Amino acid sequence: MNESHLVDAAWQARSRAVCPHSGFAVGAALQDSEGNIWTGANVENASYTLGLCAERVALMYALAQGKTAFRMLVIATDTERPTPPCGACRQLLWEFAPDAEVIMVCRGGPTRLRVKELLPFAFDVTALGPSGRP
Ligand code: THU
Repeated sequence: MNESHLVDAAWQARSRAVCPHSGFAVGAALQDSEGNIWTGANVENASYTLGLCAERVALMYALAQGKTAFRMLVIATDTERPTPPCGACRQLLWEFAPDAEVIMVCRGGPTRLRVKELLPFAFDVTALGPSGRP
């Protein structure tokens, strides 16, 4: 499974975005450690704050199928500049896909960053100390 396949999957996912309110369609394709691809698109609704980003839809889809290790995430938007994941998505990517490379594709060339570069000095379970552990 090569990177261009993952990029194609992200563009395809974008075509299924449900974004009547913003008109901003985003597609995401997440590759797990076995090479499977999990896709997502942003989904908006009349109660605006309940919408979900494409990245989180893809990540939750994969997690709910029992996948726990991820290599790469492609985010596709039909824009001049790359679309970086929002803060909430970065937090979840940090927790569930810390080693993944994030590739943002748009009308220009791809932009690549690792999840760890996107969220330095992150909050996670280690910050909770002993009280945060089962
Ligand atoms: N959105 C994403 O799906 N991913 C991003 O990385 C940034 C923003 C969505 C959320 C909302 O549906 C629309 O784009 C406008 O913010």
